[in-house]
Amino acid sequence: MRKAAIGKAMQPLGRVLIIAGSDSGGGAGIQADIKTVTALGGYAATAITAVTVQNTLGVSAVHPIPPQIITAQARAVLDDIGADAIKTGMLGDLAAVRAVAELLAGVAVPVVIDPVMVAKGGAALMESSAVAAVRELLVPRAALLTPNVPEAEALTGLAIASLDDQRRAAEVLLAAGAAAVLMKGGHLAGDRVTDLLITPASETAFEAERIVTRHTHGTGCTLASACATGLAQGLPLTEAVARAWAYVQEAIARAPGFGAGQGPLDHGWPLRGPA
Ligand SMILES: Nc1ncnc2c1ncn2[C@@H]1O[C@H](COP(=O)(O)OP(=O)(O)OP(=O)(O)O)[C@@H](O)[C@H]1O
Ligand SMILES: [Mg+2]
Repeated sequence: MRKAAIGKAMQPLGRVLIIAGSDSGGGAGIQADIKTVTALGGYAATAITAVTVQNTLGVSAVHPIPPQIITAQARAVLDDIGADAIKTGMLGDLAAVRAVAELLAGVAVPVVIDPVMVAKGGAALMESSAVAAVRELLVPRAALLTPNVPEAEALTGLAIASLDDQRRAAEVLLAAGAAAVLMKGGHLAGDRVTDLLITPASETAFEAERIVTRHTHGTGCTLASACATGLAQGLPLTEAVARAWAYVQEAIARAPGFGAGQGPLDHGWPLRGPA
């Protein structure tokens, strides 16, 4: 039997280790991460940090995984399969943040850190006591940090209401040690949404008309995993982010409309061809 040709250009099979929480609804978290990495031609492995009971209407329970089991999953992957990039998402408490920071101290591959704090529906996914540890222990390990507006406000203490504010917050996070910051703009009001990619040497804006939809569950997880896939495949940072951003835009535009709340994206759109 002939192998099906999927996707236009073959990308190298970058290995991505994802350290994040499970979303039973499949729209965000580990499930979104695995779909994203796969859709973009990478190989996904995981260390699960928490099991959330979740659907499009919200999070109704969180079962944290013990820190030593989080670390053991990651080590089992790294010691055998290896990884070309790592992505971190939900880390529920201080112990999880510390355990992951310790793990990352021993790895050389690029790390995309999505400093997840609150779910789209409003549920807290990280204890507030862990915010300072994220800033001190994880931000300096980020090849790319991908905060949304409330997360950047929590990490910097700045209020963010404009593009200039986004830029200022990103600069504070660079000063805190991140190699690059993708300061997302989904939470700001307005007809257009702008994400700013800032490094010490450059600024790139990714801007589009806001898609009017309630189906934006997991956009942040999806974006960060798509960035990590690009880095794992050897794309330069700006290209990895540009491809990731375009992938998310199309995935939102093609959202299937599942659920009565904030529904999932269409992660598999590259497998189905033109809309
Ligand atoms: N309505 C929209 N139209 C177009 N792009 C959007 C929309 N909402 C979010 N995005 C894009 O989705 C990506 C994620 O941004 P957002 O600020 O929503 O992250 P987030 O809050 O971390 O998401 P999540 O709640 O899933 O964790 C960004 O690239 C942003 O520009
Ligand atoms: Mg997010």
